[in-house]
Amino acid sequence: MFLPFELFKFIFCTLTLLLIDLVLCYNPPKRIYHNSEIIDDKLLIFSGWTNIADYTFELFYLDLSKPFDNNNLTWTLIPEGSLPIHTYQSATVLSLDNSTIYLIGGYMTNKITHNYDYSNLVYAYNYPTSAWSAPELGGDIVPPRQSIRGVIDNSRIIYIFGGFNATDLVNNTGDLYNDMNTLNTVSNTWTTLSISENIPIRCSHYTANILPNGIIVYIGGIEKVSSFAASFTLVNINQIKLFDTENLEWSYVNATGNEIDSRIYFTSVLTPDGYIFIFGGSTYAATNASLASVSPILAMLDTNKNSFEWSIPSGSEENSPPSIYGHTANLYNDYMIITFGINIDTRLYSSEVYLYNIKSNKWVTTFTPSKPSTTTGSSTATSNPVKTSSPEKKSSKSLAIGLVTGVGIAVLISFIFIAIFVFRIKRADQLRQRPDILEIPGSD
Ligand SMILES: *[C@@H]1O[C@H](CO)[C@@H](O)[C@H](O)[C@H]1NC(C)=O
Ligand SMILES: *[C@@H]1O[C@H](CO)[C@@H](O)[C@H](O)[C@H]1NC(C)=O
Ligand SMILES: *[C@@H]1O[C@H](CO)[C@@H](O)[C@H](O)[C@H]1NC(C)=O
Ligand SMILES: *[C@@H]1O[C@H](CO)[C@@H](O)[C@H](O)[C@H]1NC(C)=O
Ligand SMILES: *[C@@H]1O[C@H](CO)[C@@H](O)[C@H](O)[C@H]1NC(C)=O
Ligand SMILES: *[C@@H]1O[C@H](CO)[C@@H](O)[C@H](O)[C@H]1NC(C)=O
Repeated sequence: MFLPFELFKFIFCTLTLLLIDLVLCYNPPKRIYHNSEIIDDKLLIFSGWTNIADYTFELFYLDLSKPFDNNNLTWTLIPEGSLPIHTYQSATVLSLDNSTIYLIGGYMTNKITHNYDYSNLVYAYNYPTSAWSAPELGGDIVPPRQSIRGVIDNSRIIYIFGGFNATDLVNNTGDLYNDMNTLNTVSNTWTTLSISENIPIRCSHYTANILPNGIIVYIGGIEKVSSFAASFTLVNINQIKLFDTENLEWSYVNATGNEIDSRIYFTSVLTPDGYIFIFGGSTYAATNASLASVSPILAMLDTNKNSFEWSIPSGSEENSPPSIYGHTANLYNDYMIITFGINIDTRLYSSEVYLYNIKSNKWVTTFTPSKPSTTTGSSTATSNPVKTSSPEKKSSKSLAIGLVTGVGIAVLISFIFIAIFVFRIKRADQLRQRPDILEIPGSD
């Protein structure tokens, strides 16, 4: 009698651990054209194209409060944070108080019907409650668009410039926009700015970063040089667009310095000392099979100089990741963290996380969180409403535990039934004085 119960206990414990693993140590599908934001020491990943029949709605994260190696990642699923729609090539903007992620545009499809669904251009994820919503937006009507990036200014206004509008979703052809739309996140209203001077050429697939002085820096992408042009062309990466969010004016700067290939499907991060690091991307081609890699893979733009200057940090080519595109990049302390995308040489989806240290200018394989500093004083020590409470973790854990307990109990009950059944058969067998043969229930 003791042996079977030891066995059940063993099986029960193994199953419990396995289930905890399944829920808390999540193995995310590889993806491209996804989104990522950092809140509360968590690198949150969601949306994107997985190139499999299954659409992906999961929200999951990498815990940045603990050290990790880039070949041994522990992803955690936030089951209740599942997206309300499927989208890729959309923009995300994080609210200034780190509470809300705005998910804007992209190729949006209905979660149930899998048909294109542009009924809401904007969805909002509230981090403290782990809930997605479609905020009701007033003001101007902004047509759907893809391949955009957004930034937010100190008045909590989001800026969305231009973008691609796929008019033929089968052949993926369409038009480009050059309008500037602002989403006031206080009043929840869209405004299409009416600007008459220095209007940029229609453009999409750029990167956008807002400098502390309120100037947005737009780099790269594709443009439609004239309305008669048959196809799009790469934006010269040296010809940088600037948008002044104070005076609502466009201006341009010709960057100098190292020769950097123009590109699309790349990323940019802005460092606190005014450098924009761009990474990865590809050339432009009519079909994505003809996309080619760009050089250098990593470059930085010094925005402190009057005429912006490109350079290739020495040491940045050593241990460099392969040429990838359609990834995301986030800056967290000294690390630029690259997730997913496609390796352009092998055409395989990338599942690795690449870490670039912006201080040492080196690609590294180990992530070490900087210790909560007590020396940096007031500016970083100010209260952070999101940081103090961690409902995500708690609720996903409690959900996981609930799930595990529920399934565990079900499994245990089934085992007890099987045990009773086996025991009865065994006893019947013994009574019949047969040799001890383990029988599979139901086989006779
Ligand atoms: C992977 O990371 C986990 C914890 O994050 C650790 O327990 C484990 O030993 C690591 N495995 C390897 C092979 O480094
Ligand atoms: C938001 O998070 C960043 C770190 O990711 C932090 O520097 C900033 O102070 C936070 N803002 C607020 C209002 O908590
Ligand atoms: C392109 O624009 C039209 C007109 O605004 C809109 O109806 C359509 O949904 C857009 N297509 C995409 C893929 O965004
Ligand atoms: C899309 O491509 C197909 C096949 O090449 C072609 O028959 C069709 O006319 C194209 N659609 C448009 C709107 O051009
Ligand atoms: C940048 O260079 C182009 C081509 O040489 C020139 O036409 C343009 O006026 C320059 N722009 C600025 C802002 O200097
Ligand atoms: C290439 O483009 C097609 C159509 O736009 C899309 O279905 C496919 O997933 C893309 N492949 C990659 C690797 O992006």
